[in-house]
Amino acid sequence: MIPAHVAIIMDGNGRWAKQKSLPRILGHKQGVKTVKNIVKAASGLGIRVLTLYAFSTENWKRPQSEIEALFSLLSFFIRKESKELNGLGVCLRILGDLSKFPENIKTEIENVCKITSKNTGLLLNIALNYGARQELIRAFGEMLKQGVKNPTQGIVSSFLYTAGQPDPDLLIRTSGEFRVSNFLLWQIAYSEIYVTDKLWPDFTKQDLEDAILEFQKRERRFGGL
Ligand code: FPP
Repeated sequence: MIPAHVAIIMDGNGRWAKQKSLPRILGHKQGVKTVKNIVKAASGLGIRVLTLYAFSTENWKRPQSEIEALFSLLSFFIRKESKELNGLGVCLRILGDLSKFPENIKTEIENVCKITSKNTGLLLNIALNYGARQELIRAFGEMLKQGVKNPTQGIVSSFLYTAGQPDPDLLIRTSGEFRVSNFLLWQIAYSEIYVTDKLWPDFTKQDLEDAILEFQKRERRFGGL
């Protein structure tokens, strides 16, 4: 079975650049190429939802120059790829708080989300200024505001950025780190975790297929026998 939802922590852009004695930003640039390839591959494999962790709430601690470079790569990606994404039937959604983002980038992103919102192909979630604890606090605040008295798992899920989507079946992290890094803490309760040593810029369609093959070998019991 192909996993319905694959979530990826794209890690190792900086190390990829360092290995090649290049500036870190060229690692991110190469990382965007991988994003394009993996979106196409996921769409071709029939994955319904792909979630990519692009910028965490903790990434604001990076040097201003790196943050600006990441924003400009992101805006370039959104502008340049929107037609192709739309052509593939991809529906773009953002998980996270865009309010702190530069106004022009925010508007660009929101436009592409709107244009692609009716598409029925791959649902591509890009996590931007995203932190799972912040997402939960926001959800609990909204639930209080709306007077929710007896929350159930279904109700909590419906207040998250991923409302209405299946939880990730498979969580992939590149560059060999065994950490969850404040990503989708609620949604990955039963996800299979796959860690590869490959750095994100080197991650290929074949690596995605290998992760899926490994996923298919696992026996998921969801707490049962
Ligand atoms: C982790 O590498 C990667 C990031 C923090 C950013 C990921 C962003 C992109 C791939 C580009 C923009 C995304 C899209 C969706 C177009 P790192 O810098 O933490 O690497 P290191 O741990 O080796 O230093």
